[in-house]
Amino acid sequence: MPTLNLAPASVKDYRRLAERRMPRFLFDYLDGGAYGEVTLARNVADFERLALHQRILKDVSARTTSARLFGAELTFPLALSPVGLSGMMARRGEAAARRVANGFGIPYCLSTLSVCSLEEVGAAATGPFWFQLYMIRDRGACADLIARAKAAGASVLVLTVDLPVVGARYRDVRNTMSGGGGLWADLRKGPISYVLHPAWVIDVGLRGGPHVLGNVSPYVKNASTPADFSAWANSQIDPAISWADLDWIRKEWGGPFVIKGILSPEDAEEAARAGVDGIIVSNHGGRQLDGVASSISMLPRIAEKVSGKLTILIDGGVRSGQDVLKALALGADGAMMGRPWVYALAGAGEKGLSNLLKAFLDEFSVSMALTGVTDTSQIGPAVLDQASGIAM
Ligand code: FNR
Repeated sequence: MPTLNLAPASVKDYRRLAERRMPRFLFDYLDGGAYGEVTLARNVADFERLALHQRILKDVSARTTSARLFGAELTFPLALSPVGLSGMMARRGEAAARRVANGFGIPYCLSTLSVCSLEEVGAAATGPFWFQLYMIRDRGACADLIARAKAAGASVLVLTVDLPVVGARYRDVRNTMSGGGGLWADLRKGPISYVLHPAWVIDVGLRGGPHVLGNVSPYVKNASTPADFSAWANSQIDPAISWADLDWIRKEWGGPFVIKGILSPEDAEEAARAGVDGIIVSNHGGRQLDGVASSISMLPRIAEKVSGKLTILIDGGVRSGQDVLKALALGADGAMMGRPWVYALAGAGEKGLSNLLKAFLDEFSVSMALTGVTDTSQIGPAVLDQASGIAM
């Protein structure tokens, strides 16, 4: 007998709901990766290939899942990665994500390229709120964004460094979303995709506006269509950024400073020398340099170089509470997820995201118990079965 699919349980379930609800070009923008999507698939597959090491009879009746990141006590060591345009995928998506994440006791990281502004998200909840910055050629705009992030109560600045140029995403090319043309530019003309997704049109398209990019709109002159913003982002994200620029940003910011997009041990060491507070091991969810190794497969070599010198976070392919456990086992202090939180929010609203976070927490806690650990601080390589893991 086929399973009754009455309630979503896993990330795959939420993905299906999001696919049903969102216009095709938006779903593809969220779901896809660069070129042949080889790295995107690797990110997930390499987590799956890691086997857990089951242990028994260890009194696991009391367990502590909490962890501290950048001075904040969290329900468990997970944060929501910055996802641009999430306010197009769910109604006021960025403010909603912060509300749910903070309600659950974990941090939310807001992208520079968001619909909801720093000010809107800043006022949406209380709890750890991080801001992700791209280095903007217009340094005045960049300094202003940093000042606004401080004023809005952001506690950590995350500088994304793996997008000095943009990797082509074939699904976006096919949908003509890349380059700011076609459907994307024609939002107001209502392509067929809108007709097929009336719930999104009413909830997000009509009731969820305005759909400008709230963080950057003060700096984009005469922008009226998403294509104008896209053109601005393509011309303003600075490909000349180098290690020498970090000092300027750190001085402007003055708080915990994290670099996102580290995928090599050499760069991790350079980041430690530069004195940053943390790194996010990431390949941008397989959306940039297709063909690079998965984040999780690079983590052990990176942790070996910089463990104890800075906070190590990882994203790319985290699809369950077990994956959070696996990331900690290989040297991360915390894990982050991108697409899954948007699938849940876009597919099933704030309740959906809240349920997904609860599922991750439960799975993390149960997996701790069944690998014989009772406190987050005890998680190490011993929870993995080295013999059947990926080649490190
Ligand atoms: C992203 N990501 C991203 N990262 C960032 O630093 N700034 C951004 O604006 C965006 N925008 C963005 C849009 C979309 C649609 C996706 C899917 C991703 C990358 C994101 O923060 C994170 O690194 C990956 O999503 C992690 O991989 P998973 O969890 O999606 O597999």
